[in-house]
Amino acid sequence: MPAQAQALVASASADLIRQAEEALMFIVQRPDRVMVRGKGSQLWDAEGRRYLDFLAGWAVNCLGHSPPVLVKALAKQARLLVNGSPALYNEPMIRLAKLLTDHSCLDKVFFANSGAEANEGALKLARKWGALKKNGAYEVVTAWNGFHGRTLAMMSASGKAHWDELFEPKVKGFVRVPFNDLPAMRAAIGPKTCAVLLEPVQGEAGVFPADEAYLKGVRALCDERNALLILDEIQTGIGRTGTLFAYEQYGIEPDIMTLGKGIGGGFPLSALLAKDHCSVFEAGDQGGTYCAQPLAMVAGLAVVGEVIRKDVSGLARRRGDYLMKKLNGLRTKHGLTEVRGRGLLCAIELPVEKAADVVKEALAEGLLLNAPRPASLRFMPALNISTRDLDEMVTILDRVLAKVLR
Ligand SMILES: Cc1ncc(COP(=O)(O)O)c(C=O)c1O
Repeated sequence: MPAQAQALVASASADLIRQAEEALMFIVQRPDRVMVRGKGSQLWDAEGRRYLDFLAGWAVNCLGHSPPVLVKALAKQARLLVNGSPALYNEPMIRLAKLLTDHSCLDKVFFANSGAEANEGALKLARKWGALKKNGAYEVVTAWNGFHGRTLAMMSASGKAHWDELFEPKVKGFVRVPFNDLPAMRAAIGPKTCAVLLEPVQGEAGVFPADEAYLKGVRALCDERNALLILDEIQTGIGRTGTLFAYEQYGIEPDIMTLGKGIGGGFPLSALLAKDHCSVFEAGDQGGTYCAQPLAMVAGLAVVGEVIRKDVSGLARRRGDYLMKKLNGLRTKHGLTEVRGRGLLCAIELPVEKAADVVKEALAEGLLLNAPRPASLRFMPALNISTRDLDEMVTILDRVLAKVLR
């Protein structure tokens, strides 16, 4: 672009940022870039700069940005029917529910719009089950450092220590235990417990997978003490960890599972799934204006259909192995203390708390990364990312680490 045109674009962009600061409620410090276009694993800003995207909308765009299969499905459905009514059937709603139940161990589905909303539904279902089938049991055991969303109940359920004093009083009835600690779980599940709620891999905490013996042990404890096991697969589901659902890798089945993020490939959609024995909602217990609206349903059908048809989960496993090998290659050179993950949900641990500096420097080099903790970097790209893009990311990361950790 000629220099004069570039200067004009840059000043229009700066003006937009000024307007953003005036009109948008502040919730987080965003970089001073305005994103306008995405394709596959690339994003472009208003000034034409390209970014290699390892955020993927926070582990959402599982098929990359604007995958043709999603764009086509949305455009076709938009011409037919955008919004019917949550009180009326639509065909894609039925087909997506069938697709999910046919490919999981769960029997019934309720569709919602965000992960937190699906988790709220899961807790309501568990409490209803406790009221009907376990003498009014209502307590839910969750894990420290777990993350389940930002509604008040989900902030109460999550195990982020610094959330404890916020927005008091919180929702009662949660018991928190250390993650991967079976004796602590054994001590926590009692007659008042209706459910245990866990992530198979704690994503927001910095990518910490549950041990196989732990999840198997929790499943056995839930069976022994008549409590439901709820798996929050909002981040791990739809192929992210190398299988369609992470629970498949643990040789167990949850009673309830929640999905979000990848299920819509970027379109807002989440789902609450349950086995028949605990699908106890009655009329009026659960609902929502936009639940199961046709646009979201065709997005889910297009994305989940493609993930299953093309075995994108297997691809994510192979790409994840490739990425882990490359990240391990940086280990000695930069003194990384850990490389961990499952499929394409990976993280590295820096020797010092400089992850935010790495994110900033990476942005300047056209790479989007996330630092979930002061010394951790998380990698959650599109599941169909090319090895060329993985190589480019590692080359930039290598350079940035050398600069920041110097
Ligand atoms: C495991 C898990 N559960 C729930 C949520 C909340 O999802 P949402 O932001 O769509 O409400 C997230 C979001 O990061 C998550 O990672």
